[in-house]
Amino acid sequence: MTQSLLIVGGTRGIGKEIARRYAGQGWSVVLTGREDSAAKSVADELGGDTRGIALDLSEPEQIAEALADVGAVDHLVFAAIARDTNTLDNYNIASARYLVTMKLLGYTAVVSALRERLAEDGSIVLFGGRAKDRPYPGGMTVGTVNAGVTGLMHALVVQLAPRRVNAIHPGIVGDSPYWAENAEFTEKVRQATPTGRNVTVADIVDGVDFLIRNQSINGLDLYVDGGWLVP
Ligand SMILES: NC(=O)c1ccc[n+]([C@@H]2O[C@H](COP(=O)([O-])OP(=O)(O)OC[C@H]3O[C@@H](n4cnc5c(N)ncnc54)[C@H](OP(=O)(O)O)[C@@H]3O)[C@@H](O)[C@H]2O)c1
Repeated sequence: MTQSLLIVGGTRGIGKEIARRYAGQGWSVVLTGREDSAAKSVADELGGDTRGIALDLSEPEQIAEALADVGAVDHLVFAAIARDTNTLDNYNIASARYLVTMKLLGYTAVVSALRERLAEDGSIVLFGGRAKDRPYPGGMTVGTVNAGVTGLMHALVVQLAPRRVNAIHPGIVGDSPYWAENAEFTEKVRQATPTGRNVTVADIVDGVDFLIRNQSINGLDLYVDGGWLVP
């Protein structure tokens, strides 16, 4: 059945591939990025019933207005991230604050703005990441925020019932644009992954599809990491 999807952070990487999948199935897709022109250009590229709009998660007070002309939403996926490399020795507070704001307050502000427009039999998928309990060098704030995604998920399950809310936590996604150019690191991750292969963007899109489709999956932290245990 044709449904509607809003994908926050759909201009690049994993979010763009999620948008591509559902646009290809004839769904009505709205994808967001910070720049209106970039979002519209990606929507044009994907084709079908796809629209691009500007939304900056780091400005939570502006979010309701940015979403004013978005109609009913069956499924809402949050794939946005701001890259932050942080350590205690060289703690960049501005960068950490930006990431905490956009991923936790920003995600929540979007749900708040859309709460009356979310279908009762619909779902939300929040992107966290395995950095929450498998920290990598510089991933301190990323890990902290990704752990916060689990708490946000549980709060939303209660507040939005009967709508389903789940989280997906990828390991290092070897062919995602952010990591694809760091072959030395992704090879180390591959060697530390029991499946002997890096997680792929296609694996993550498939996990999201499972969370969207399965009507009894609610409040699940889905780990898609090949069993990766050692950072
Ligand atoms: N890649 C991995 O290995 C990996 C591993 C674990 C978890 N994850 C999670 O998976 C999700 C997707 O990751 P990815 O690697 O595909 O990310 P990505 O390629 O860096 O894409 C990030 C997306 O977020 C948007 N974005 C950035 N800042 C924003 C802001 N302030 N407000 C609104 N949107 C903003 C970007 O759009 P514009 O630039 O157009 O604004 C873009 O569409 C993220 O939540 C990430 O934490 C990824």
